[in-house]
Amino acid sequence: MAVKKIGVIGAGTMGTGIAQVAATAGFEVVLNDVAGDLLQKSMKAVDKSLTKFQEKGKIEEDKEKIISRIKTSNMLSDLKQADFVVEAVFEDFEVKKQVLTELDKILDPSVILTSNTSSISITRLAALTSRPERFMGMHFMNPVPLMALVELIKGIATSQETFDEAKALAEKMGKVPVEANDFPGFISNRILLPMINEAVYALMEGVGTVEAIDTVMKLGMNHPMGPLTLADLIGLDVCLNIMEVLYEGFRDPKYRPCPLLRKMVDAGYLGRKTGKGFYDYSE
Ligand code: CAA
Repeated sequence: MAVKKIGVIGAGTMGTGIAQVAATAGFEVVLNDVAGDLLQKSMKAVDKSLTKFQEKGKIEEDKEKIISRIKTSNMLSDLKQADFVVEAVFEDFEVKKQVLTELDKILDPSVILTSNTSSISITRLAALTSRPERFMGMHFMNPVPLMALVELIKGIATSQETFDEAKALAEKMGKVPVEANDFPGFISNRILLPMINEAVYALMEGVGTVEAIDTVMKLGMNHPMGPLTLADLIGLDVCLNIMEVLYEGFRDPKYRPCPLLRKMVDAGYLGRKTGKGFYDYSE
């Protein structure tokens, strides 16, 4: 079945970006969140991002036309008409469980349900639904409108047909899909997060300052952002969550979260979103 309407659940940074790229690719989008103020904020972010793209001639259509394809909603039942869904709610198993079980009842059994989880087992999430063969991971990167990659993860029961449909959809959205197996952190966060965690250890042990650590990785390794800047972008709570998943999943001490990372999360220093992380964003 040709996908026309994509449902995106969760209007945080990731859901907003996914809604934007889907609408830009010509799909009708229902962007759902329980928080009305978040939906408003989300639409402002889409407008801002598309304005940038329009100024640079990077979108073919007028931005208003693209925006008009996104309908906001605060009731999951509005997803009834969607023919492909990406769940992008808060990265917490219990939160996802509640949303996925409810969604599963609302959606037509033929609809493919995907999760943008950054590290929770796809097999475990799929088992919450009645459609494990039509469930898989579709992991976008932040900032979604600028990053080319989508990591595609099959759960133990995901059918090849589901995988192929999601792959074709990712390509239509202008992304480059890469297949990863369902192991903690998949490929991206299995590699990225231990690097960030190690950067926090280096800071905690006084190996270098925040600026020194970031500069070494930027200028020495040509990373576009230093690991601590990137941690602030991802959110320190999300980084800690992913390290916990790796640590729990492998039971290997090499994945233990850095105590300084935990301390910062305890203090509410979550990075850009709270105005303070390894850097100060209060201005
Ligand atoms: N929409 C449109 N334009 C945007 C934008 C957005 N959402 N965000 C930034 N831009 C624009 C900026 O305004 C800027 O435009 P001007 O040049 O006109 O000022 C331009 O893009 C470049 O931005 P910056 O100058 O701020 O910075 P940059 O050149 O370093 O590029 C970046 C930004 C693409 C984010 C780059 O720094 C980068 O690739 N960083 C690494 C990102 C990364 O690793 N992401 C993965 C995170 S991990 C993840 O997402 C998975 C997970 O599960 C945790």
